[in-house]
Amino acid sequence: MAYSTVVEESTSLEKQIERNFAEARQRTLDLIAPLSDGDLYSQHDQLMSPIAWDLGHIGNFEELWGVRSLPDSGEVFPELDEMYDAVKNPRSIRDELPLPDREKLKEYLDKIRHVVLQQLSEADLSHAKHPLLRAGFVYQILLQHEYQHNETILQTLQLKRGEPYSPRLPLRELPTGNSEIGGMIEVPAGKFLMGTDLRAGVYDNERMKHPVSLDSYRIGVAPVTNEEFMRFVDAGGYRAREFWTDEGWEFIRAEDINAPKYWRQNEDGIWITSSMNYEEPVNPRRPVIHVCWHEASAFCRFAGMRLPTESEWERAAAWDRENERALLYPWGDDSWTPDKANLDILGWMPAEVGAYPNGVSPVGCHQMIGDVWEWVADDFQAYPGFNAFPYDEYSKIFFGSDYKVLRGGSWATRAGAIRNTFRNWDYPIRRQIFSGFRLAADT
Ligand code: AVJ
Ligand code: FE
Repeated sequence: MAYSTVVEESTSLEKQIERNFAEARQRTLDLIAPLSDGDLYSQHDQLMSPIAWDLGHIGNFEELWGVRSLPDSGEVFPELDEMYDAVKNPRSIRDELPLPDREKLKEYLDKIRHVVLQQLSEADLSHAKHPLLRAGFVYQILLQHEYQHNETILQTLQLKRGEPYSPRLPLRELPTGNSEIGGMIEVPAGKFLMGTDLRAGVYDNERMKHPVSLDSYRIGVAPVTNEEFMRFVDAGGYRAREFWTDEGWEFIRAEDINAPKYWRQNEDGIWITSSMNYEEPVNPRRPVIHVCWHEASAFCRFAGMRLPTESEWERAAAWDRENERALLYPWGDDSWTPDKANLDILGWMPAEVGAYPNGVSPVGCHQMIGDVWEWVADDFQAYPGFNAFPYDEYSKIFFGSDYKVLRGGSWATRAGAIRNTFRNWDYPIRRQIFSGFRLAADT
């Protein structure tokens, strides 16, 4: 089974991919349409690239994998490799690169896409022998790469100084929550299968499927809410040394952090938060967002609990115990629709807890996919038998103790870039990402 935003039995894989390519590019262009040149080319924050770099890099990545790594090449621009090499050029210096102007960028993206589509139209993916083409692997990766950079661009837009970003895309009204949803549920001990054997539509770090045995544990029915997190803030959690690791304490003291990023207190002491150009008093029913791993773990200690391990998270999201198999999404194998999870950007913020009864996982967890990325306890490590594919720089060079894992995607994640097995990672101090967490505990 291939992952895609649009799945219709009657359409060939090639046609589906073509349609998804067009839709993906339209979304990218819609996101940047309201931006001035200043917004597009300036370094809004040391943590992020100028948005124009993300755009050029989407094209360069597409050329490297969708054109130059395949047997027949078309027109290519290898002289740009240097500029868009993410490893050679750290984000903080990307505004010093001679980035092409808006028209040139668009032209570059169009030319590459043209070659990719031409080759795709001649391909027979179901019978392809080339490892990059088999089952459309390379095209699914190109799509997901563009989706992922949409989320990166949104992080930059949220960080941007000056006028807040004002989207031109339509707003999708978020369903209201259900205040009955919350607390913890017990997951029984047992073995489950983690990861996936799929070849196309997944990244190398999600492979292979492997058995994992877990003791029984408890896990949050929903992500930790603003209301819960505010109790920690009000109780002086950010000043209580005992809740923090040495590293976490050093970080929040050095940065003078006292609340989630994008929270501010008004003259009356009311906490206000903003998402892009939308501002509201912190809504107690939404999951807390823009907290780093250290804040998440400090809250857990305050609550007398802990973060779930990565395997506990996946067990709770994916495992259908009755049928002894892993589901692609918490709700089953059907593709995402807006009633199942808050994905795909257009909600522009997390939805209230309990807003997605149709997206509940087999054990009864809500909102495991969408709303907020969920920090888990673990470092980003390879699964047994890991093989880097198609290149070491996607996952392999990041394995180790520097990065923590995040699961489940956020409101800013495109639906085609998330599933139960998807693994994201970042430094434990990062807060510009759309990150929250849920609690876990031993039984
Ligand atoms: C998986 C989000 C950590 O942005 O660095 C984009 C995704 N990889 N281009 C990142 C990615 C290559 C990656 N993360
Ligand atoms: Fe990239």
